[in-house]
Amino acid sequence: MPVVKYIQVDGQAFEVEVPIGSSVMQGAVDNLIEGIAAECGGACSCATCEVYVDEAWMPLVGEACDIERGMLSASRDLRRNSRLSCQIEITPELEGLIVAIPAG
Ligand code: FES
Repeated sequence: MPVVKYIQVDGQAFEVEVPIGSSVMQGAVDNLIEGIAAECGGACSCATCEVYVDEAWMPLVGEACDIERGMLSASRDLRRNSRLSCQIEITPELEGLIVAIPAG
């Protein structure tokens, strides 16, 4: 199972295994990582699962689609590497992915 590293606002980092086919959001929720509320359960309709994808991983993770970008426009601190974590599917290639959680 790929390991994903989640970095909290205070710099604390948590590395957890996330099953292939799951999502970065689900990995956080299942492991009780704070800061990802995921209120809509992964339906791309709440934007409470925003993360900042480590820049080095952006080419592999990819940009947000138009619907996701629309949801992200409500972000308080939208960045070039902002993504909704429920829309990032875990694949074997994402072993070692690093994401940062925005301030709440
Ligand atoms: Fe709601 Fe990702 S969980 S948009």
